[in-house]
Amino acid sequence: MSTTSNARLRRLRQHAGLRAMVQENQLQVQDLVLPLFIKAGLKEPQPIQSMPGCYQLGLAHLDDEIDACVSLGLKAVILFGIPSHKDATGGASWQADGIIQQAIMRIKRRAPAMLVITDVCFCEYMDHGHCGVLSGEGDAASVDNDATLPLLAQQAVSHAKAGADIVAPSGMMDDMVTVIRQGLDAAGYQQTAILSYAVKYASCFYGPFREAAEGAPQQGDRRTYQMNPANAGIGLREAQQDLAQGADAIMVKPGMPYLDMVQRLKAQHPGVPLAVYQVSGEYAMIKAAAQQGWLDEVEAMMESLLCMKRAGADIIISYFSKQVAEQLRHTK
Ligand code: PBG
Repeated sequence: MSTTSNARLRRLRQHAGLRAMVQENQLQVQDLVLPLFIKAGLKEPQPIQSMPGCYQLGLAHLDDEIDACVSLGLKAVILFGIPSHKDATGGASWQADGIIQQAIMRIKRRAPAMLVITDVCFCEYMDHGHCGVLSGEGDAASVDNDATLPLLAQQAVSHAKAGADIVAPSGMMDDMVTVIRQGLDAAGYQQTAILSYAVKYASCFYGPFREAAEGAPQQGDRRTYQMNPANAGIGLREAQQDLAQGADAIMVKPGMPYLDMVQRLKAQHPGVPLAVYQVSGEYAMIKAAAQQGWLDEVEAMMESLLCMKRAGADIIISYFSKQVAEQLRHTK
C-alpha cells in the first residue's frame, strides 16, 4: 500500500492523556455567566415550565442562590427584573428601590466578589412588552428610538448606582451605547463597563424567556429593531458601531445557530471580549430531548458550550452554568 505522506492524524487520538494534551479549547468556570430572574413580591421560587430547572426568584431566595453560585466557583450573574407594576414608559426600571436595584445591592452585600451584570431593557417593564417606548396609535405604533435613549441611560445609571459592575443593553436601539456611556460618566460611573448585545437577532429561540421574564410583546414583534436571521454583514456593522460608541465588550445572541457570527467577530476584533448567549430556547431544546431520552443531557450541554469557545467566544451566558460548574469540578 502506498500512502501519500507519513502524517497519520489518528496517532494523536490514541490515548486519553494525549487527547487532553492536544485539546485546543477548554470550558472554564470563569467563562460562565448565570442568568437570574428576580420577581418583585415572590414568596417562593416559581418554576419556569418551559425551562426545566430554572426558577423566578424573590429577593428572599436570592441569598441561597448566590451562595450556591459561590460554592460552585461561578464568578458572574446577569440579572433580569420582573416588576410588580408595568407602565408605558417603564418607570419601575430605574427606581432606586426597584426590584433589580434591590437585587444588585443584596448580591453585593452577600458576595462582594460576585460580578453583577444587568440586562438593560424595557420589555419587562413596559405594559406593551416592547423594548422601548411606542409612538403612534394601534397598528401604526412603533418603537421610538430616540425617545427611548434617555430612559435607557437613566435605567443604566440606576443599576450602576446600586452596584452593578457591567450593564448590558439588549434593546438594539441605535446609539444606545453612546447615551449610556455619557450617562454613566456624567453620574460618576466611569468604571462601569458596557457589554452590548450588539449582534442580536429576531429569534424564535427566545420563546421560553418570554415566560421567564414576562415580557412578550402584546402586539407585533421585534423585527423593527432586532436583526434578520438571514443577515451577517449588518451584524459586523452593528458590532463596529457599538465599539466606536465605547462598548467594552460585545455579544452575539442566540448562540448555536449563530456561531458563524462569533467566528467572524472574533477574527475582526481579536482584542474585544466576545460574549455569546445560549438562549432559553437552546436550553429548552436540550432539556426536552434529554427528558425524552433522545440526547445525553450532560454531553449535549458540554459539547454545545465547548463549541462556542472553539468559535471564538470568551464569555458564555447559559442557563446551564451551575450544572456546567458542577461538571467541571467532577472532571478536574
Ligand atoms: C431583552 C432580552 C431578551 C432575552 C434577553 N434579553 C428577549 C428578547 O429580546 O426578546 C432573551 C434571552 C433568552 O431567550 O434566553 N430584554
